[in-house]
Amino acid sequence: MIFSNLLILILIITEPSLIVNSDFFIKNLNYELLSEPKLILKNITSITRCLSRCLVDSSCYFANFNYEICQFYNLNAVLSKNYSNKRIIYTKRSNGIISSVNNPFGVDWGIWGPIEECDQNDYVVGFRTKLDPFQGTFYDDTALNCVELICSNGKRLKSSESQWGSWNTNFKNCSSGQKVNGFSYGMEQNQGTGDDSATNVIRLKCTDNSIIQSKEGHEYTTIISILCPYGVIVGLRTQINQNINAEDNTGLNNVEFICKLN
Ligand SMILES: *[C@@H]1O[C@H](CO)[C@@H](O)[C@H](O)[C@H]1NC(C)=O
Ligand SMILES: *[C@@H]1O[C@H](CO)[C@@H](O)[C@H](O)[C@H]1NC(C)=O
Ligand SMILES: *[C@@H]1O[C@H](CO)[C@@H](O)[C@H](O)[C@H]1NC(C)=O
Repeated sequence: MIFSNLLILILIITEPSLIVNSDFFIKNLNYELLSEPKLILKNITSITRCLSRCLVDSSCYFANFNYEICQFYNLNAVLSKNYSNKRIIYTKRSNGIISSVNNPFGVDWGIWGPIEECDQNDYVVGFRTKLDPFQGTFYDDTALNCVELICSNGKRLKSSESQWGSWNTNFKNCSSGQKVNGFSYGMEQNQGTGDDSATNVIRLKCTDNSIIQSKEGHEYTTIISILCPYGVIVGLRTQINQNINAEDNTGLNNVEFICKLN
């Protein structure tokens, strides 16, 4: 076991030109992929090549490399925790992201903040929002300006934040032992020359199916819900629009949540 980990490390270090690093894959120990893999590539003699091929194959969600055999698994590969199985399963990070990007409301303004994640083996249990309440007809509305997540060990995650509004003083948590595994959002449609406020609502879904809510605006078209394809939410990044000199700022635009096996 120590030998094979060492081997993987050496292979990664000696093939730096290939695209494999923690930006693309999350290592998961002690999991088992129960169903038949969708695609098995044999004789790919390095972990680096195996993961690189998974990255460009849209049907590959998980990859496993053992004794020079590279296996790809699709989204439906059943996962279960098995503590005696010490295999490393790599999860394609891009497939574990759920997001409001490409929303049907035509809202995509501003810049993205950094990715923030819980510590290894921790997960998100609650959140709070920062709301700029309705300003009346003659003032610029921005509605939500930020989302802050809280991890199981109390660590707080916040990506970019715009300046308007105020935070909910309390975090809203799932009930004890539950994890967050999905979210919903409500956005105001692109108003053209009118006053835009973009995202008004972010809610989180807990593994017991309850929904937690924090401060919310009321200008939204509909609520759209998205679940993690697998695992639970462990991180986020946010896109905010804060151009101080512009007449129409929108604050929080889009969010991306990172899902991971836990
Ligand atoms: C992999 O390659 C080796 C050496 O080229 C060969 O002996 C072996 O049969 C191959 N295995 C598979 C499964 O194709
Ligand atoms: C767990 O993994 C071990 C080692 O790979 C295997 O022998 C065992 O059958 C697995 N247990 C279950 C319940 O699948
Ligand atoms: C929410 O959970 C975090 C992490 O366990 C904890 O630090 C915080 O006090 C909790 N907040 C509430 C309101 O329960």
